[in-house]
Amino acid sequence: MDSIKRVFLIVLDSLGAGELPDASDYGDKGSNTLRSISQSPQIFIPNLRKLGIGNIDGLGFLGTNENQQAAVCKLGELSKGKDSTIGHWEISGIISDSPLPTFPNGFPQEIIDKFSELTGRGVLCNKPYSGTQVIADYGEQHERTGDLIVYTSADSVFQIAAHENIVPIEKLYEYCEIARQILVGKYGVGRVIARPFVGSAGNYTRTSRRHDFSIEPPQKTILDSLKAAGRDVISVGKIKDLFAERGLTEMLATKNNADGMEKTAEAADRDFNGLCFVNLVDFDMVYGHRNNVDGYAAALSEFDKWLGEFLPKLRDDDILMITADHGCDPGDISTDHTREYIPLMIYGKLVSPINLGIRQTFSDIAATLAEIFGVNYTCAGESMLGELTDMKQHLCNQAKRALQKSYSPYSGYRVGAALLTGSGKIYTGCNIENSAFSPTICAERTAFAKAVSEGEKSFRMIAVAGGKGGIVTDIFPPCGVCRQVMREFCTQNFIILLAKDCGYEEYTLSQLLPNSFSI
Ligand code: THU
Repeated sequence: MDSIKRVFLIVLDSLGAGELPDASDYGDKGSNTLRSISQSPQIFIPNLRKLGIGNIDGLGFLGTNENQQAAVCKLGELSKGKDSTIGHWEISGIISDSPLPTFPNGFPQEIIDKFSELTGRGVLCNKPYSGTQVIADYGEQHERTGDLIVYTSADSVFQIAAHENIVPIEKLYEYCEIARQILVGKYGVGRVIARPFVGSAGNYTRTSRRHDFSIEPPQKTILDSLKAAGRDVISVGKIKDLFAERGLTEMLATKNNADGMEKTAEAADRDFNGLCFVNLVDFDMVYGHRNNVDGYAAALSEFDKWLGEFLPKLRDDDILMITADHGCDPGDISTDHTREYIPLMIYGKLVSPINLGIRQTFSDIAATLAEIFGVNYTCAGESMLGELTDMKQHLCNQAKRALQKSYSPYSGYRVGAALLTGSGKIYTGCNIENSAFSPTICAERTAFAKAVSEGEKSFRMIAVAGGKGGIVTDIFPPCGVCRQVMREFCTQNFIILLAKDCGYEEYTLSQLLPNSFSI
């Protein structure tokens, strides 16, 4: 589909959509970031609700929407781990078999020895530590000896703190490069971070010349393929760090969420041809890790407000995807990330607002991007583009699939129906015959019975496919009883798609049932 020119892929860092089936392996049973923040009085997200966030499987507490504007689903994570790097890599097509390593007891002696040998300096601390506390506790000794302060955290990081007067900033960056070269394989931490500081004992402060040296993605990502195909790949925020600046054509640095949103809006105002990949990190860094439920909810409400201004900026051939990279439930005891599904909303003029249910892997995003931009990129994900852009054909395909379940030993006619509701869900049905003949239920009525008994009240269209022995050659129009059932639950504009071997015929209910009876 080459009519889509720009895709905005916005990652709301840590906005998980509920526990994954293996959450207990990560100590995260029951976690649900969106549910926790939905309980805050600070939550006000009319635009996300308009898109259909509450129609995502399991997120009904956010408020369902009979007329969702976006395609929605939630995606599972095939990778091991629950951090930003692993999450963004999977979004971009890489499945990681092991999480990035963490060092709760400090780095092994062989690593420290090697680092000392190559830098010619001793090492202080070497354990998990708070960044401000570590310079308060070790700064003086560092100034005296010239030894480097090495520390880590719950994340996969190797951090080097040094006073700018003792270790000039360029030298510190050089030491980080050295560490980056040592920290490979099972010691391959996500990031080596330079943490320069200034001031005097009792008064040390960190400077803004922090610099991250990320591990490179171990395989080709969709970003690499898009760049190679001559597309623009714009990074907004920390995307560049997560991919070690690979596969990007432009990098826009951001200070915080507000700045990230502003830079994204600016990108939307200019012409580019490709992907604008945005990460808004405050959700995770400022609120999730600090278990600040109200702050998190207020930040999402801020995003929602911005979204209200951003949506009208989108052009007819743009697509917006809003998603996350993992959870960080601010309502649980731990301040750590949580192993959760990620929500996905896909919006655009060319997109059918369909509910794509629960999908296997974040990599479905990479596969979809590959198909959108027509690049050859293979990954574990499945493209959603077919369903997203041709809803009517998709519905006919679903009807054809449903007829395989037909129970029709008497007539031999196998019939399938696929009914699309206002909330984007599809209910399928088949004909179910009976030896007494009259209790036979048609495929359409099976689908309606399933939907109505699940509480559905609004219906957009139905596709019907049928034929002798299940071979669909020509249209299989609904019988009079089924038309009357449609009349019961639908308006006269309800669409009926009659599948053919190839393609379909389209009717409204008023065409198939004129002058109808209803009370
Ligand atoms: N059938 C349907 O499933 N839908 C219709 O609208 C027309 C008829 C089924 C009922 C029966 O099992 C078979 O087609 C032949 O009548």
